[in-house]
Amino acid sequence: MYFVANWKMFGDLRTLNSLDKVIKFSKTNKKNKLKIVYCPPNTLIRPLSKRLKKTKIEVGAQNCHHSYDYGAYTGQVNSKMLKNVGAKYVILGHSENRQLGETDNLINLKIKNAIKSGLKIIFCIGETLKERRDKKTNQVLKRQIEKGLKSIKNKSKIIIAYEPVWSIGTGVIPKEKSLIQTISFIKSRFIKKYPKILYGGSVNTNNSHKLKKIRNIDGFLIGGASHNPKKFIDIIQKTIN
Ligand code: PGA
Repeated sequence: MYFVANWKMFGDLRTLNSLDKVIKFSKTNKKNKLKIVYCPPNTLIRPLSKRLKKTKIEVGAQNCHHSYDYGAYTGQVNSKMLKNVGAKYVILGHSENRQLGETDNLINLKIKNAIKSGLKIIFCIGETLKERRDKKTNQVLKRQIEKGLKSIKNKSKIIIAYEPVWSIGTGVIPKEKSLIQTISFIKSRFIKKYPKILYGGSVNTNNSHKLKKIRNIDGFLIGGASHNPKKFIDIIQKTIN
């Protein structure tokens, strides 16, 4: 079971001290299947990966530039650079970046080059509220998967994060039945071995007992509630036990 913390644009060097609780928890928890991944801002990848060196907790980034090669791209960081400072994962296709103009084709290029750099991909997909109301959820997810993963044969490095846009940061989560159906729809898009599927969007300590019932899920991508180590541990405990 994956628990991926997406810190977004939050956190500084002092924030890292608060992780000691999670480190302690991860050491005492003997469930081998528990996978914790922290995706802090790029500025914290190196110090965080040093701090987590003797633990099973891994580090990821939240986005990267699409170019595999270095180049004149002011302010950008590519997947090789992220790997070099300790990232093992990168979140790609997050709706907050799609809203800034990131297209399916660009995400596809990012995914291919990040795999080439040796990173695992947390590939975000999800429909907007309007698309859901227009009953286009499956159509949108199908397009995002097909275009985003176009000509990627080996999908072993891909983890899909289903994040309905209307659920991110709103406190609203999909109904149990609808979430189970959507996850199995996503899984049905993959003929052989399907990738792992995570759910993301307002996962918190109050709804994790409901999310626990979603049996076809492989974990969670957690934004706001992941900043607080106590809450993060609480969510993990409520969903794995
Ligand atoms: P949230 O964010 O948990 O704060 O809704 C999730 C995400 O955007 O990945």
